[in-house]
Amino acid sequence: MSGSLIYRAAKRALFQIPPEKVHHMSIAALKSGVLPTCPNRQFENLQQTISGINFPNPLGIAAGYDKNGEVPDALLRLGFGFAEVGTITPRPQAGNPRPRIFRLVEDEAIINRLGFNNLGHEAALQRLRARRPNGILGINIGANKDSDDFIADYVKGIEVFASFASYFTVNISSPNTPGLRDLQSGEALERLLNAVLSSREMAISEGRSLPVFLKIAPDIDDTGLDEIARVVATSPLDGMIISNTTTDRAVLGSRAANPQANEQGGLSGKPLFEKSTIVLAKMRQRLPPAMPIIGVGGIDSAKAAIAKLEAGAHLLQLYTGLIYKGPGLPREILTGISEHIRREGLDNVSELVGRKTDIWANR
Ligand SMILES: Cc1cc2nc3c(=O)[nH]c(=O)nc-3n(C[C@H](O)[C@H](O)[C@H](O)COP(=O)(O)O)c2cc1C
Repeated sequence: MSGSLIYRAAKRALFQIPPEKVHHMSIAALKSGVLPTCPNRQFENLQQTISGINFPNPLGIAAGYDKNGEVPDALLRLGFGFAEVGTITPRPQAGNPRPRIFRLVEDEAIINRLGFNNLGHEAALQRLRARRPNGILGINIGANKDSDDFIADYVKGIEVFASFASYFTVNISSPNTPGLRDLQSGEALERLLNAVLSSREMAISEGRSLPVFLKIAPDIDDTGLDEIARVVATSPLDGMIISNTTTDRAVLGSRAANPQANEQGGLSGKPLFEKSTIVLAKMRQRLPPAMPIIGVGGIDSAKAAIAKLEAGAHLLQLYTGLIYKGPGLPREILTGISEHIRREGLDNVSELVGRKTDIWANR
């Protein structure tokens, strides 16, 4: 029986258990090594150097799965080319009351209002210190809900983790920390990027590249995108991650009327695909062509991954797809992209990037 068939059978039982509990079970399974791992396949035509980092393939695990940096290496063994841990805030934080993760099974979607539940900088630091560096590790940093200075919290993140990160993600797009998304607007964004990028300069030694990516929401109109692009163009930011979850329920179509859809929080998974890809393409048009974008939102197949690349992403991430399709998904997607490149007579994944940006931006 193939891996995906086994997972389809297991899913029936797993979906009887509350989502947050299954999440903890899956982290425990990865820690213990009980999940089957195949020898890591190299895909020569999927290798790229982006912002000075050699990515073995373009697919990473998105932030939020491994919030405390417990299992980055086990995630890399599933085939992911890079693992992003976090969001990590300076002080430990319990997050919102449970239940706070909801499955929309028919939609292959999730709504979460976790609220940056995590064990804080110190706990993650201890784990990462004990780890033997191996593979690309992104560290996603955020601010405590009750912080009186959000920007100072991001600066602390850079200072604390600079020696352990391959890259940083500045996450200002969680809908579950009140006021956080306000950092996406012009003046606030300018102050944030100035502070974060100067602390990055202070933290690195000569010649080392330590890229910083900015992760935004998909719920931004054209004027908002213009403003972000204007600020980004005048800063040494390395790239963008598009996108986080959405607060928009119209993406569910007629099923927006279902009671589950009314749960507050950010929606991820299949119904986010179109909206996040359109925003990605619109941002692609506004950014310098060489600036990398990591495309996230609703990737659950090779077809969706290829579409994201064609819309303008250099790299990809996923989370919700893993819940609905299982741990074999990264390999399935990578094999599919690699074969597609060969069938198209191309040499490297970078040749797919942005082929259909204009089509996506005008949808
Ligand atoms: C349960 C859950 C928790 C998440 N937590 C975070 C987080 O802590 N930080 C972050 O930047 N994104 C977080 N995300 C957003 C994902 O990284 C991703 O941007 C989003 O889910 C869209 O991708 P997907 O459709 O493949 O899941 C979370 C998503 C889910 C489903």
